Formats: sequence, C-alpha cells, structure tokens
Amino acid sequence: MTKYESYKSRLARIADLGYTMALQGWDQETYMPEKGADFRAQQTATLSGMAHEMSVDKELGDLLKKLSKKKDLTPKQKRNIEESLKDYKESKKYTTEFVEQLSRVTSECFQAWQKSKKESNFKLYAPHLTKMIDLKRKEADILGYKKHPYNALLDQHEPGATVDQLDVLFKDVREQLVVFVKKIAAAKQNDDSFAYKNYNKDKQWNFGIELLKQMHFDFEAGRQDISMHPFTTNFSPQDVRVTTKVIENNLKSMIWSCIHEGGHGLYEQGLPSSEYGLPLGEAISLGIHESQSRMWENNVGRSLPYWKANYKHLQKYFPAHLKNVSLDHFYKGINLVKPSLIRIEADEVTYHFHILVRYEIEKLLMEGKIKVNELPEFWNEHYMKYLGVKVKSDAEGVLQDVHWSHGSIGYFPTYSLGSFYAAQFFHQANKDIKGLQKNIEEGNMLPLLNWLREKIHRHGKFYSAEDLCKKVTGEKLNFKYFMNYAKDKYSVIYNLK
Ligand code: CO
Repeated sequence: MTKYESYKSRLARIADLGYTMALQGWDQETYMPEKGADFRAQQTATLSGMAHEMSVDKELGDLLKKLSKKKDLTPKQKRNIEESLKDYKESKKYTTEFVEQLSRVTSECFQAWQKSKKESNFKLYAPHLTKMIDLKRKEADILGYKKHPYNALLDQHEPGATVDQLDVLFKDVREQLVVFVKKIAAAKQNDDSFAYKNYNKDKQWNFGIELLKQMHFDFEAGRQDISMHPFTTNFSPQDVRVTTKVIENNLKSMIWSCIHEGGHGLYEQGLPSSEYGLPLGEAISLGIHESQSRMWENNVGRSLPYWKANYKHLQKYFPAHLKNVSLDHFYKGINLVKPSLIRIEADEVTYHFHILVRYEIEKLLMEGKIKVNELPEFWNEHYMKYLGVKVKSDAEGVLQDVHWSHGSIGYFPTYSLGSFYAAQFFHQANKDIKGLQKNIEEGNMLPLLNWLREKIHRHGKFYSAEDLCKKVTGEKLNFKYFMNYAKDKYSVIYNLK
C-alpha cells in the first residue's frame, strides 16, 4: 500500500464511524421510540470517542506530515492532504479536559434552554449561557485567530469567513434591505389565507414527493421521511436522507421544506463517491450547502416560472381549496414580505434582519462588550429597530433558537451567506444556461441540476468557498446580487415604482 492509499483507508474508517453516528442521529429524529434515547446516547458517545481517537492518532499525523512534503501528488491529492492536515492540527489543539468540559456545559446549557424557553424565563438560562460564552472565548484562544476572536469560531462553520467580510455584507443589509422593506410595508398587501385551510396530509406528502422527483432527487440513493424539524443527512453520496414536516392547516410548511431539503440532498448526492471520507468528498461549508437549498427553495421554488410548471397540478390535488385562487394570487400569496418575530417563519427578505441581530450579538459577546444578562434588552431593541416588531416574551425573542445552547456561535451568518451565494450563483446560471427560465416553466429542472453538478457539487472541498464563488461567477461574494434579485422580484409583486 502506498502512503496515500494508507491515508485514504484511515480516513475511510473514520468516516465509517462518522456516518454510522449520522445514521443513529437520523433514526433518533425519525423512528426511534422514546425509550431508546438513553442507550442511543451511550452508543453514539462510544462511536464518537473512537472516531476522535482515530482522528488524533499520532501515526495519522506522521503520515499526513510526510505526505504533505511529497512532490508527486496530483492537485486533488494535495488538496485532500492539506485539508486533512488542517483538521488534524485543529483536533490536536484541544485537551481532553477541555472537550469534556465543553460537552458537559453544552448538555447543561441545552437543558436549561429548553426549560427556560418553556417558561419564557431568560434568568434560568443566563448563568449557563454565560459559562458557554466563557468557554467559547477560551476556544477561540485555543484555536488562535487573526484580528477578531469571532473569526476562530466562524472558521468552524464557514472556513475562510471573517468579521471583515461579514461586516461589509451586513452593512449592506442594514443600509439597503431595511429601506427596501419599508417601501414594501407601505404598499398594498397581498393575501395568503388560502394556504391555511385544511390540506389532507397524505395528499400533501404525495405532492412533495413529486416535486422532489421533478428536481431529480435520486430515490434509489435516498429517501424522504417525517421529522419534527426538517433536515438532511447522508451516509454516503449513495444514501442521502431528507425529512419534511406536514401540517394539516399550513400548505407552505411542507412544500418549501421539501424543496429546501431537496436542494441540500442534491448537493450530497452530487459529491464524488470516489472521494468517500476525504475532504474532496465533502461539502465546502455550511454557507455553500445552504446556497444549494435556498436556490431551489427561493430562486427556483418561489418563482413564477416554477409555479407555471406546477400550479395546475397542485390545483388538481386540492381542487376545492384552490380552484378560485388564480396563479397570480397564489404567487403573490407565497411571497409575502412581512416582518415577524420568529426567524424560522420569516420570508426570504426580512430573514436577514433576524440574522443581523444575532450576528451583532455574537460579535459583542466574543469581544466581551456585552453581558449575557443584557441580551434580552438588546434583542428587543434591535427587533424594533430593524424589523419594527415588539417582542412580548423572551420565548419568542432571545430564547427562540437552540444554537447558542449547543455552543454554535458563528453558525447563524452561514444562513445569510447561503442566500447571498444562491442569488449570485443563480444569476450566473441564468447567464450560462440558455433558456433556463423557460426550462423551469416547463418543469425541466435537469439543465440547472447539471450546471450545479458541474460547477459546484462534483468538486467537494477542492476550492474554498471564496475561490469557488470567483471561479463560478467571476467575482467574490457580493451582496448586490441578492439585492437586485429582491428588488426585481418584489417590485413587481408589490407594484413598487
Ligand atoms: Co438548510
């Protein structure tokens, strides 16, 4: 066995454990009976410990160092080694003591968050979150960073992203998008009451499956199930699981969670199997992953051409509900822009104000410029400032998201990055693919999927997010693509001058 083959087989074994944990996780969210939780936690912890030991193994480290000096590797092999060595060095920075402490604080913090959200009492959560933030600041020091401690944490979710880059993007959100939404708010409002009648769950499910098939989600290499919160996971590119949520009196929930997770799923199915377990077999970052889901969900799935292709069919499923709702009425109804309190229910435009507030808070926390007990006040003030909504309770305010209790700091910005990348990629796709809008109108999604496969999916982690964006679109991420997309679309919908 050559050194490179030996590296490949070590990484494949670590991946085997990782994907087995993913399978346990998928099962836990879909079919596991309640009583199974305790032993399941133990089983996952065992595998997780084994995977960690293997990934910090000294022999692996020596092998990686030797391989990184080899001159005869192909560019792809070189890139794999580079990324694996980075991962290895990063894992080695953590002491067992720190990992155990973080895991203990996380589980306490998560429990405190659940209780505190239920009772809408931030005080129960505050001491635990304070401990978590202290640990995260320590973690930034352990990892090391340039310029800003937040950069160290961002890098875990969005390699290469920095405060400098995000500050520019969110300044645009503050200055351009906030103004645009005020114009929309002053315009005549549209109606979406049709979406909240009773829609038979089985029929909804069947319609969702048809949408996934139309996107060319490969059901021989994946499946869809039901879960509380829709998600996508995979055990290899040949086995990708998406989930959805079907609510009887909310047609929107199933349709767009289905398309969103389908977009994530297509990315996973498009990663190269030949690079199983290696960086080149993995998605680039959360932001790029989210660009795939949001492009399908919003740029495609909330567009007029998409519903020209699918609306008649939906009407056939639900004739009594939709026969008097015209395509125009439906299209405007599924694209309401309305500032609201809850992030996960937000429309594609005001969504970014929710992220903006969280981004500002996370940065201040990392700088030590705000204390945890000041968060509710800051939150409420900024929801008023950016969204113009009054937060009545912490449960629907600062306590709404689980992320901080898991220790995920630097995660939220990847949601906005996803939408911004999506707009920029989709703009390029329309330039590259002749007649793309017409294809979509005819229900032919293959040209777009092939473009995504060619330009993005097949590369795995070969490029960084920034390099990929430059390679595909000719420039680095630029907010103007999202802004133009929003302006073009919503100026028509809301009849703005
Ligand atoms: Co997503």
